[in-house]
Amino acid sequence: MPCIVNSVVAQLVDVSKYYGSGEGRIKALDNVSISVRRGDSAVLVGPSGSGKSTLLHLLGCIDKQDEGSVIIDGIDTSSKGLDELAPLRLDKIGFVFQSFNLIPVLTAYENIELPLLFRGYDQGYIKHRVNEVLEMVHLQDRMHHYPRHMSGGQQQRVAIARALVGNPALILADEPTANLDSRTGADILELLLYLKQKDSITLVLSSHDSVVLERISNVIHIMDGRVSIDSPVF
Ligand SMILES: Nc1ncnc2c1ncn2[C@@H]1O[C@H](COP(=O)(O)OP(=O)(O)OP(=O)(O)O)[C@@H](O)[C@H]1O
Ligand SMILES: [Mg+2]
Repeated sequence: MPCIVNSVVAQLVDVSKYYGSGEGRIKALDNVSISVRRGDSAVLVGPSGSGKSTLLHLLGCIDKQDEGSVIIDGIDTSSKGLDELAPLRLDKIGFVFQSFNLIPVLTAYENIELPLLFRGYDQGYIKHRVNEVLEMVHLQDRMHHYPRHMSGGQQQRVAIARALVGNPALILADEPTANLDSRTGADILELLLYLKQKDSITLVLSSHDSVVLERISNVIHIMDGRVSIDSPVF
């Protein structure tokens, strides 16, 4: 029987990524290899422009590497195009963006149910599951509010609920506390860590925030697209 507890959920092997062409070509990631096991968390730390978002986008299968392999929950995505990867994104990955990326004309409930609608679940299950995650992020009383009528922290909770609703193996969060005051940011981090623990979700986030660095021991430093790792995540 495979050892599920120790299996690797998020893996990059010798990954490089370029942007642009000709003289303007930039090597955003340079031969990067990382792996994070089921139920573990890791934080990417590095200066602006070092490649944190690029790395998360590749793990999230919302962009493609130029060289190397991206392996998500044992599935090598390398030979597949972004369209072909849509089911894997829906099934296995929840992405929390720095700027929340909620759809402004939809309520909190409607934003959260979207991934389940795309997966074709029936209304009964959707209602049950959306209410369940609303409870986890303590937003039942805001479910009919639009994003513009919510605070930054509440919007980020909606974004986390949307990332969580499909029971992903992997949650990726790009500077999830950066647009929040320090108290709200700390609450959001605790929520992510609690949810990770509760369901053995793998969590990879990027952050400059000292609160995050104090709480997550697997630190992946990134500089000019190259990584070095504090605590081994292999
Ligand atoms: N779509 C793009 N087109 C061209 N260059 C890009 C693109 N996205 C990122 N880059 C470049 O790739 C490098 C890595 O960018 P990335 O956004 O991954 O950095 P980051 O560490 O997330 O920075 P920040 O902390 O400011 O969010 C930078 O030099 C950036 O200018
Ligand atoms: Mg970034």
